[in-house]
Amino acid sequence: MSQSVKVIYNNKEFEYQLIEGTMGDIAFDISNLRSDTGLITLDVGYKNTGATKSDITFLDGELGKLEHRGYTIEDLAGKASFVGVIYLLLYGELPNKNKLEEFQNKIKAKSGVNKSLEVIFNSFPQSTHPMALLASLTNALCAFESDEFKTNEEMDDVIITLLAQFPVIASWAFKKTKGLPVNYYDTNLDYVSNIYQLLFSEGNEVELDTDVIEALNKLLILHADHEQNCSTSTVRMVGSSHAGLFTSVAAGVSALWGPRHGGANQAVIEMLEKIKADGGDSQKWINKAKDKNDNFRLMGFGHRVYKNFDPRAKIIKNAVEIILNKLNIQDEVVDIAKKLEQAALEDEYFIKRKLYPNVDFYSGIIYKALGINNEMFTVMFALGRLPGWIAQWKEMRLEDQPIGRPRQVYTGYATRPYVALEDRK
Ligand code: SDX
Repeated sequence: MSQSVKVIYNNKEFEYQLIEGTMGDIAFDISNLRSDTGLITLDVGYKNTGATKSDITFLDGELGKLEHRGYTIEDLAGKASFVGVIYLLLYGELPNKNKLEEFQNKIKAKSGVNKSLEVIFNSFPQSTHPMALLASLTNALCAFESDEFKTNEEMDDVIITLLAQFPVIASWAFKKTKGLPVNYYDTNLDYVSNIYQLLFSEGNEVELDTDVIEALNKLLILHADHEQNCSTSTVRMVGSSHAGLFTSVAAGVSALWGPRHGGANQAVIEMLEKIKADGGDSQKWINKAKDKNDNFRLMGFGHRVYKNFDPRAKIIKNAVEIILNKLNIQDEVVDIAKKLEQAALEDEYFIKRKLYPNVDFYSGIIYKALGINNEMFTVMFALGRLPGWIAQWKEMRLEDQPIGRPRQVYTGYATRPYVALEDRK
């Protein structure tokens, strides 16, 4: 196979080297394209453009494969702890028992959220969307914790601080929707059990049902990282200006909120409940999704990269059965979801466009079964994605990558003379 790509322009030939990834993905490096040829590329939405090399996550959209640092998502979701996956994403290896305990203890030591943050929290109305609150309080951390660093050790301290305090403020977003008092990190509990107690304790000791904690552990792992998705690219972009970690992640929270991205899990449940209220005719809604004159889209379906089943959707779908049976919950929207999925997978429109269920299609059903309200689903996504955002930000900073600054093709007015106010029509 040729090791380069040739561009012929203005009767000159320019050669660009191929870069082959560990798993066979191939790119050609156009770092010198503009200086060589005066040309830039145009790729709206970056559908064909690699923003970086990365050692963290590999996904194959055609095969529906996802791996973190070489471990398959199936192995990690089935066998690992979320805090172990956090360690893996950040440091490149699964931790042994000592390192895992040391890591958890470091998190516990940094988990004390400044009480003054609660004053800011109390100033928000109960109607505040949890994602707005999460983005705001993540930025507000800068007022109480420094995210400045000069050494890698200091960078690690900043990272541990965010890992410790983000779940606390995420749980506050849930408490705000309920008008309930907030909780603080319980250093007697492990990371995932803490997330559960932060969300559900009401001054009492909550029952930590092992199946529920296991379902939460699995869901958080399944959301942990996904290479250069919209919110992660946002975190990298903001971080590339050398803005701090907290504010870079706050920007990622904002990007994740959109219904085309992480906000889809809330939109899926709202769609399923709307279809249920409308009589449950899944074919009617499939037809709406196919109708170009109807702006309805089948939320939880389709993906920029996966042109096959999202492997995370398969794992979550299996977990739905287990957790609903365990909690003895019958939820009609599960049947509607399955009918929608079946109908779509047999429909030429979806088959031709390779539209399959993605991570968001079934996740909301589990969150709902755990007692989490619809508006909080994307906060739960953010709780899972936090280590991915941080690991990608860390990789970008350690490589001292240049500030992100894409080019454009200008299509506005050509140069024209100024028109004084009195001369304007
Ligand atoms: C996440 O990038 C990541 O990795 C994201 C994520 C992560 O872990 O970070 O995996 C998480 O964001 C998952 C995606 C969640 N979003 C949704 O479920 C929202 C519904 N899906 C879509 O809006 C859409 O599929 C996107 C945004 C996910 C992907 O959009 P693309 O890649 O820009 O594709 P497109 O909009 O160009 O669609 C291609 C065609 C179009 O039809 P034609 O113009 O070719 O006729 O497919 C159609 C679209 O109309 N299409 C859909 C559809 N998704 C795409 N038609 C109906 N229903 C849908 N859901």
